[in-house]
Amino acid sequence: MTHMQKAADVLAVARRIVFFTGAGISAESGIPTFRDKLTGLWATYDPQRLETADAFRENPALVWGWYLWRRRQVTLAQPNAGHHSISKLAKAGWDVSVITQNIDDLHERAGVDAVVHLHGTLLNVKCFACHRPIALEPEQLRISKEDELVEPPRCSRCNGRARPGVVWFRENLPEGAWLSAVRLVRTCDVLISIGTSGVVRPAADLPEMAIRAKATVIHVNLEDVSLGDGREIMLIGSAAQVLPELLGCLGVK
Ligand code: APR
Repeated sequence: MTHMQKAADVLAVARRIVFFTGAGISAESGIPTFRDKLTGLWATYDPQRLETADAFRENPALVWGWYLWRRRQVTLAQPNAGHHSISKLAKAGWDVSVITQNIDDLHERAGVDAVVHLHGTLLNVKCFACHRPIALEPEQLRISKEDELVEPPRCSRCNGRARPGVVWFRENLPEGAWLSAVRLVRTCDVLISIGTSGVVRPAADLPEMAIRAKATVIHVNLEDVSLGDGREIMLIGSAAQVLPELLGCLGVK
């Protein structure tokens, strides 16, 4: 039996399915993963050095400019067949939940309502000083292709600088999101982990947590990222190809 057929058989009788997604699911929508080399304006920068509170303190205009650029990239992108497959499975009657490490809104735009965003979202802005949400006008978020340094707007309450509502390296995950994720993972039959390198913790611990809770873990990735447990099924290929094929095996169009 092929791995694909084995995965379809598991899903056919599953009661609760959790999708756990990473940058790989949005790659075919044109949003680079963290392992891709940046191009153009940002080619000489390392995202890991821009995505920290220290980097923001040191050069707020550079970090704000980088996020406006990423936000622009996400606004221009469209959900792909991978995102759509998840909502199709839910519409076909399966109990589906989505936990993502991605800060884009492509799952929502593909029709999934309650997405658990472990690393926050690019669409929210908050104050670096008082942490309260900041509502910005569309023109404050617009940038041209060439903009690199953009001074962040100020908080109307404390005059602190605006920062993206995402989780930076060395910051804690939003507690509510993490607790929801753990609850979902501990009570699912199947966890489908898509397009994640599994190196950034604690998010990366979720597949192992699912295995310990006796769920089957299906990985969809360009590379073999399995952990070596008998409960895993590794589907090698791109999310936008593998997921529609899997739905096809289930008879879901
Ligand atoms: N389909 C499936 N998998 C893919 C595809 C694709 N089209 N393209 C790339 N991949 C896989 C890669 O093989 C890799 O394993 O997606 C993974 C992407 O890995 P990362 O870039 O490390 O993304 P992710 O795991 O989401 O990163 C976790 O790291 O920088 C932080 O906070 C950031 O949320 C992010 C976290």
